[in-house]
Amino acid sequence: MVSFYFKGDARDITDHLLLLKEELTPESDENAKESLTDTRILQSVLDICIAGTVTSSDTLKWMVMYVAANPKVQTKIHKEIDDLENNLDDLRRCRSKMTYCEAVVREVMRIRPAGPVALRHKTLCDTELGGYDIPKDTIVYANIWAIHHDPKNWESPEVFSPERFLEKDGSLKKLDTKTWLPFGSGKRKCVGEALAMAEIMMFMALFFHRFRVSFPPDVQPNFEPMMFEINATPFPQKISVQKRE
Ligand code: HEM
Repeated sequence: MVSFYFKGDARDITDHLLLLKEELTPESDENAKESLTDTRILQSVLDICIAGTVTSSDTLKWMVMYVAANPKVQTKIHKEIDDLENNLDDLRRCRSKMTYCEAVVREVMRIRPAGPVALRHKTLCDTELGGYDIPKDTIVYANIWAIHHDPKNWESPEVFSPERFLEKDGSLKKLDTKTWLPFGSGKRKCVGEALAMAEIMMFMALFFHRFRVSFPPDVQPNFEPMMFEINATPFPQKISVQKRE
């Protein structure tokens, strides 16, 4: 077991990992030693900095854009957040009451998944998928974007509609993880899903509690994604942000 005792002032997760490494003794658990080699520490920090930042910030950018372009959605978000009656200090508890906001997050992640083709994987053996033979050692990508925009899976997939994730009584529908998979699927699915959902919901509540967003009248919103190898980012564009009364 790793001991969670820290010397000094740990400023962030890198400090915490380095301090844990300092605590190791020859008698320490072998798993702990293996988890705290310099290479593993560097890799963990890179995972957080790369896998865990652009994905969340892109999702937030798309969210602000779709909300700005859909005033009725924004009105519902504001109502749901206002109904929390300033209990925003306890956002973890509030989340269960933010069903509309969560439907908005799900719809943003469906229509603009931050990792549209997940990460690259390699086949370990000759295999067959959907009638195609795939030899051993082939690099493969999962086309999440296509699954999320397939009319067989989603009615009017190009339309932004958080309501598709809601039951008639306003509760969240059970997710079909075969057709909604912004975090990938299977054993190598995103390890940061729970953290990402928590931080995105927190940002959403705090941001829309204070602000209203819209596209300036002279701006034509551009929802085309800038595609990099593994992420889909919005093009820079002007959005007007007003403080709510
Ligand atoms: C909206 C936010 C996020 C989205 C949409 C997202 C999406 C994804 C996707 C699609 C994959 C690839 C899964 C696959 O290849 O099957 C992935 C992997 C990964 N994600 Fe995330 N992610 C997000 C946030 C985060 C956060 C906050 C962290 C960590 C702090 C994180 C850490 C990772 C790691 C370490 C992997 C690689 C897992 C492995 O290879 O076993 N992600 N993510």
